[in-house]
Amino acid sequence: MKQTATWLKTADSVVVLTGAGMSTESNIPDFRSRSGWWQQVDPMTIATPEALEGNPEQFKAFYKARLEALEEAEPNRGHQIIARWEERGLVDRVATQNVDGLHQRAGSRNVDALHGTIHAIRCHRCDRPHELDAFLRDEACVSCGGVLRPGVVLFGEMLPQDAWQRALKAIEKADVVLVIGTSLDVYPVNQLPSVTGGKTVYINRDIDQSIHAFDAVHQGSAGEILEELDRLMEA
Ligand code: APR
Repeated sequence: MKQTATWLKTADSVVVLTGAGMSTESNIPDFRSRSGWWQQVDPMTIATPEALEGNPEQFKAFYKARLEALEEAEPNRGHQIIARWEERGLVDRVATQNVDGLHQRAGSRNVDALHGTIHAIRCHRCDRPHELDAFLRDEACVSCGGVLRPGVVLFGEMLPQDAWQRALKAIEKADVVLVIGTSLDVYPVNQLPSVTGGKTVYINRDIDQSIHAFDAVHQGSAGEILEELDRLMEA
C-alpha cells in the first residue's frame, strides 16, 4: 500500500478506471457478484437492442428498477476521495463503466462515462433526447412515436467514441492507472489497463487469477483502501 501511495504522490498523470464495485457502498448492486444484477437476470435477454425491440415492456421494467434503486443513492467515501484527489491535482481523469452518475455528483469533473449515463433518456429510433419522467411514464417519442430508452451502452452497441478516445489517450500516457471495483469481464474496457506505459494498480473485493499482470493488487473494499491510500499520501 505504501508503494502505491508513493506512486500516486510522485506521478505526473493518474487515471482512475472504475466499475460497479465503486458503487456497491452506495447500496447499488454490481453485476457479477453474488448480489449482482446478473444473478437475477441474464444480461443477454435484457441489456441488448434486441431485448428492447423484442420485449420493450420487460426492458423498461428492468431499467426502471435500476433507476429506482438509484433514487436514494448517494456518492460514497470512495467517490468523494477520488473527486478530492482530482481537485488537488493528484488525479487527471476518471474513466468509468458506471452509468449512475455518482462520480460526477461527488464532484469529479473530468469523467468519461464509457458505458453512457442511465439518466440520459433518448428515443431508440430518432435519438431525440427526452426527460427522465417521459421514460418513467412510459411515454413514446414526441417526434416519431418511437420507444424511449436510457442512454446506456447495451451489449453489442458502440461505446461513445469521444469518451472512449479521451480515456484511451489519457490511460496510454498515464504514470499510474488505478483500476477499482471492476471484474474486467467486458470488452473493450477490459483492454484499457494493458495499454498504459505506467504502473497499474487493481483494487477489488474479489481477486481472481485472470487479472492482468498488475504492478500492485489490493484486495478489499474500495472505500477502505482509498481511505488508507489517502492517509498514506497525507503522511
Ligand atoms: N469494493 C471493491 N470491489 C468491489 C466492491 C467494493 N465495495 N463491491 C464489489 N466489488 C467488486 C466485485 O468483486 C466485482 O469483481 O467489483 C467488481 C464488479 O464487477 P462487475 O459486477 O462485473 O461490474 P463491472 O466490472 O463494472 O461490469 C462491467 O458489465 O454488465 C456490464 O455494462 C455493465 O458496466 C458494466 C460492465
